[in-house]
Amino acid sequence: MQPTPPQKVKLVEVGPRDGLQNEKTLIPAEAKIELINRLSDTGLLAIEASAFVSPKWVPQMADANEVLSRITRKPDISYPVLTPNLKGFERAVEAGVKEVAIFGAASESFSQKNINCSIQESLERFQPVVQAAQEKNIKVRGYVSCVLGCPYEGQIAPQKVAGVAKALFEMGCYEISLGDTIGTGTPLATQQMIQTVSKSVPVAKLAGHFHDTYGQALANIFAAWQCGISVFDASIAGLGGCPYARGASGNVATEDVAYMFNGMSVETGINIDKLVETAWFIADKLDRNPNSKISLAMRNE
Ligand code: HMG
Ligand code: MG
Repeated sequence: MQPTPPQKVKLVEVGPRDGLQNEKTLIPAEAKIELINRLSDTGLLAIEASAFVSPKWVPQMADANEVLSRITRKPDISYPVLTPNLKGFERAVEAGVKEVAIFGAASESFSQKNINCSIQESLERFQPVVQAAQEKNIKVRGYVSCVLGCPYEGQIAPQKVAGVAKALFEMGCYEISLGDTIGTGTPLATQQMIQTVSKSVPVAKLAGHFHDTYGQALANIFAAWQCGISVFDASIAGLGGCPYARGASGNVATEDVAYMFNGMSVETGINIDKLVETAWFIADKLDRNPNSKISLAMRNE
């Protein structure tokens, strides 16, 4: 039976992390902090703020501690960060973080390139992170990358995605975000994949994370929403890409997703005008236009 599409959705802003991690020029912490503070004023309830990963692997995130220590946190907003291992988790705790995310993949090759270990090794590495987080009452979100294609292996079987999602969920992640890392997914493949994964993890515990490399992200979000998914990751101004997935362009733009749902009278709680202002703020800092049709259209109104 087809589920009723949710009448309320939550957008998880990933711009300060996924959006900026791939920028070649180092962006001053000051600009990242102002970006997060502005995003905090748009109605968003979750803003992924940085990544406590190895600075050798992702130099742009080397200032995670400074960013997390200096943002103005609003009590109703969550500011998760990526933590690939215990070392990252300990750094995050020092910075006062209350939510972390572990990130695995449904593709062996991508796992090796991204976090330098096999899928099985990654799960073994995540286990102590989840355990330490539970002891400190820190929430853990889980990501699965390459759910609709891998830059190294091509097609990925939905069953493989389901296996990793289930392992992360059973480990203790409160939500599993399904990442179309290189944006090759299309709407019917998205629905098929979700139908398979939701046999292992309840659909209410799944989120969609769509990159827009092939221009399919909004259509895929609509398709996922029809399957009952109510949480979507998105990146302000459509910033982004993954340093270990060549050709992965930006995530879907937050303002485009918010505009679509607001237009469908699906509650997002988001103020589009403030979001668009914020998109132009960060685009100006990066000396380019936002990668979002809505931001371009609304500036010209
Ligand atoms: P490794 O080299 O195998 O790690 O990297 P290691 O444990 O052997 O340590 C090597 C060195 O790194 C040591 O330092 C460690 O202390 C240090 P040295 O002794 O050489 O001076 N180190 C760290 N330093 C700071 N923080 C840490 C940390 N860990 C080790 N947490 C590792 C393994 C996982 C660390 C590395 O591969 C890494 O950091 N990878 C992260 C890659 C990344 O951030 N990718 C992008 C995010 S994922 C993504 O974008 C996808 C997503 O958006 C969803 C989607 O779109 O699909 C989430
Ligand atoms: Mg991503």
